[in-house]
Amino acid sequence: MEVEQWLHMANGDGENSYATNSRLQEKAMLETRPVLQGAVVELYRSLPARSTMVVADLGCSSGPNTLLLVSLVIGTISDHNREAEQEQRPPAAAMELQFFLNDLPGNDFNLVFRLFPCRSVHLFHSSYSLMWRSKGSYQFSYRGLGSTCEKKVPDELSGGAYLNEESIYIGKSTPPAVIKLYKEEYQKDLSLFLTLRFNELVCGGHMVLTFLGRKSKDMLLHGEASSMWDLLAQALLSLVLKGLVEKEKLVSFNLLFYAPSVDEVKTVVEENNLFNVEHMSVFESSWDPQDDDTHDDVVLGCTSSGLNVARCIRAVVEPLIRKHFGEAILDDLFMVYASMVSKHLKKAKAKYPIIIVYLKAKH
Ligand SMILES: C[S@@+](CC[C@H](N)C(=O)[O-])C[C@H]1O[C@@H](n2cnc3c(N)ncnc32)[C@H](O)[C@@H]1O
Repeated sequence: MEVEQWLHMANGDGENSYATNSRLQEKAMLETRPVLQGAVVELYRSLPARSTMVVADLGCSSGPNTLLLVSLVIGTISDHNREAEQEQRPPAAAMELQFFLNDLPGNDFNLVFRLFPCRSVHLFHSSYSLMWRSKGSYQFSYRGLGSTCEKKVPDELSGGAYLNEESIYIGKSTPPAVIKLYKEEYQKDLSLFLTLRFNELVCGGHMVLTFLGRKSKDMLLHGEASSMWDLLAQALLSLVLKGLVEKEKLVSFNLLFYAPSVDEVKTVVEENNLFNVEHMSVFESSWDPQDDDTHDDVVLGCTSSGLNVARCIRAVVEPLIRKHFGEAILDDLFMVYASMVSKHLKKAKAKYPIIIVYLKAKH
């Protein structure tokens, strides 16, 4: 089965579904709202009467957030028109809005072909998606079996052996050669993504992207995505020790994920030279989707926070875990994970750094 069949969020609207557990991602969209509103108003004012503004959401998933973008765009335009009316400015030109909601399978934004015709999109939006990689990327994930879970690095680096054994992303034991590959593949993927979107954007088209990142060059800071995946790797290892998971399964599993630093993103955008950076910033969001306080550093209810974090992560990776390790371990794994997360939160509140990038096409 191809990776795009299972690199998606947990389906349906049940207790463990993404639709029920996507508050963290909703908060990121709301945090990005002022930037998005600025882009929408600018585009709206620049378009001639009776034109159609085309907006595409890349990695829209299915759940309440899918329609949140649609409602934010429509709301921005109607607020803008209301203000114009109050200030007795001439009414804005009538316009149609067209939305494209893109997700896997079959609509992979990392592939080399075009998702949209040349110069057809006014605004690309993507939230909480660009840190996921799919295929054609990590050589160390594809070598040999042609599967995303195979984690051999190129032979010239590893002599044919597995590297990154007990980690599923960049963890404490990840060798520098593997970190280097993650970085290089990310740079290639982001550059390709920018080039493809540039061709699909109308002249001066806009792009608002929000994704998990890092605050600094360090790979394993408390609270960053890498420490959250490290805990999931430890939970998997504990199931290996209990005989519930084969060691080989853990050894051969790597996530196709990369959280870049702001500098890494800046460098790729500058070298790619197709977009002007209108805005780039980082904000923090507590790991616990139910916790809206990012100023405080103490977690009062570590047990309930651990459970909230586990529910959120399960909704994101359940299809991947089920595909590789089987259905039977899911409940045990996320129970162990919840307790490891709550222990981790006793040290300090953990917060994801999230990068917002607003770009305008140079053509
Ligand atoms: C965490 S969800 C975010 C969904 C939604 N944007 C939100 O904010 O709630 C990430 C989504 O990106 C999609 N995705 C990841 N890689 C993709 C790719 N290469 N092409 C298209 N969609 C992708 C996944 O299937 C998933 O639905």
